[in-house]
Amino acid sequence: MRTSTMPAPHLRWQALEVDKDAHAALNGHRPRVLWLTGLSGAGKSTIANRLEHELFAAGVHTCVLDGDNVRHGLCGDLGFSDADRDENIRRVAEVAKLMVESGLVVIVAFISPFRAEREAARALFEPDEFVEVFVDAPLDVAEARDPKGLYRKARAGELNGFTGIDAPYEPPQAPELRVDTARLSPEAAAQVILDHLARTGLYAAR
Ligand SMILES: Nc1ncnc2c1ncn2[C@@H]1O[C@H](COP(=O)(O)OP(=O)(O)O)[C@@H](O)[C@H]1O
Ligand SMILES: [Mg+2]
Repeated sequence: MRTSTMPAPHLRWQALEVDKDAHAALNGHRPRVLWLTGLSGAGKSTIANRLEHELFAAGVHTCVLDGDNVRHGLCGDLGFSDADRDENIRRVAEVAKLMVESGLVVIVAFISPFRAEREAARALFEPDEFVEVFVDAPLDVAEARDPKGLYRKARAGELNGFTGIDAPYEPPQAPELRVDTARLSPEAAAQVILDHLARTGLYAAR
């Protein structure tokens, strides 16, 4: 766990010559963070995958940070208490920040249930860089999908603190985008996000 929010006094920020604009010019697109939030089973990973496929085909440099994968490594020491969930998201946001500085379109697919942690992530970025996408499915739809059998386990009392069952999910109040996956196919949901990116200057550097 982190014990302080202050860096040690001898640390100085090292300025780098190859900055974000230089990366954007080389890549031919601006960097972005697409922050997908929503219940387990809402479709974050499915849409992230689809989105990366389309962006890759369009010559965009991407990276997906997906909840389960990150918990195997970077956040393998963390559990599911509120404090550990916060720390999980804090690390992911900081990694996304490094990737944005390197010019990537970063697709983050985490439940990220708390408004405050998503706002803290947003605060790391320029206003046009952070795109919060509410991947929205009603609980009964997500639970009926249950792609990993986790809702069944949570209902059976084998999993504690499961978001939507016995832990809260705070829906975004003003996300840049909301995709209703009970109505939209994964392809259509990805297209909503792609259209937003094109409209808001992703390719301005081309
Ligand atoms: N419109 C949709 N968007 C995304 N996933 C959908 C949609 N409709 C059905 N699904 C299915 O719902 C499940 C969502 O699982 P997943 O993407 O792993 O969710 P999450 O990453 O949010 O936990 C998948 O089995 C997917 O095929
Ligand atoms: Mg997922």
